[in-house]
Amino acid sequence: EKAGYASFMLKEIAEQPKAVADTLLGRIDGFGTLSLDEVRIPPEALREADKVVIVACGTAFHAGLIAKYAIEHWTRIPCEVELASEFRYRDPILDQQTLVIAVSQSGETMDTLMALRHAREQGARVLAICNTNGSTIPRESDAVLYTHAGPEVAVASTKAFLTQLVACYLVALYLAQVRGTKYGDEIRAVVRDLSSIAGSVERVLGAMGPVRELARTLAHKDTVLFLGRHVGYPVALEGALKLKELAYMHAEGFAAGELKHGPIALVEDGLPVVVVVPSPRGRSVLHDKIVSNIQEIRARGARTIVIAEDGDEEVTPYADHLIRVPPTPTLLQPLVATVPLQVFACELATARGNEVDQPRNLAKSVTVE
Ligand code: M6R
Repeated sequence: EKAGYASFMLKEIAEQPKAVADTLLGRIDGFGTLSLDEVRIPPEALREADKVVIVACGTAFHAGLIAKYAIEHWTRIPCEVELASEFRYRDPILDQQTLVIAVSQSGETMDTLMALRHAREQGARVLAICNTNGSTIPRESDAVLYTHAGPEVAVASTKAFLTQLVACYLVALYLAQVRGTKYGDEIRAVVRDLSSIAGSVERVLGAMGPVRELARTLAHKDTVLFLGRHVGYPVALEGALKLKELAYMHAEGFAAGELKHGPIALVEDGLPVVVVVPSPRGRSVLHDKIVSNIQEIRARGARTIVIAEDGDEEVTPYADHLIRVPPTPTLLQPLVATVPLQVFACELATARGNEVDQPRNLAKSVTVE
């Protein structure tokens, strides 16, 4: 069943290019137009929506955090993202014009299910993004966009996460198309970039040897920090979550700009800090800021592990370890930048003697609140 891989997790990591391609399949035509007929929410309802609220847990929540950047940038509709377990119990403001997106691999997560039930009771429309056909969350939603990751067996979510991102981008682009917001050259370029992204994920996977080696050298460490800005921030959170659940290590993800407001006090000699660097093209302010952040932590003794795109030489002098990813527009970069973090966590867990497919205390679907 593991097709020669040492674990389901490694197999599922390797399946990501296909999972991404399958999730895009048939949803974008040759002219770059999105056809999401399967999403049965009438286009009028999407045109009228004045707010998007994303609810999810764990890794799916991180996909939602990234989706917010894309939705607000491409559609100009305000978007909130909330942990499903918090959302339900704080009397959120919802009405018929709210589009709620519930993201769940299993479709059975009780916290997410309770959140969507609450949203529907308030009259909101709910779109599920889900990987499991016919599961409870899509059945109880107004509409569903399925991710086509195939069955995910390992408890740690990998390929489902990448396909959740793809589905979120598709929804964001579709909203932009239906509402006519910004649906111009920029969006067409994004659609083109999305169409070639599976190849980029494949390239990242082909270069993971040094990441594995590096992970093995860190097996004795107690703490690893992860930093990012913009969409790199949720990627940092996801990298930290993977490390916690698989390697049982203390790991934290921070917005790099927050360092100076407290977390930089944690930095000491030899502390491994993974930094997700956005493309220097496009939003270059973001890039400059994070280069300064890398310098700041390095000056305080951090061992910097930098994920940066091919050809970004500005980071080279400050990187103790450099992990290269193919050039990718910032909003889509999580699709390539997350992959080394998955491999990193998996290898570290193995080096520490942990069972990667079935980490302690965790279940694949969490059907209790
Ligand atoms: O099935 P779901 O996507 O609703 O699951 C949500 C979380 O329980 C899940 O992503 C969890 O955080 C994973 N173990 C992370 O790897």
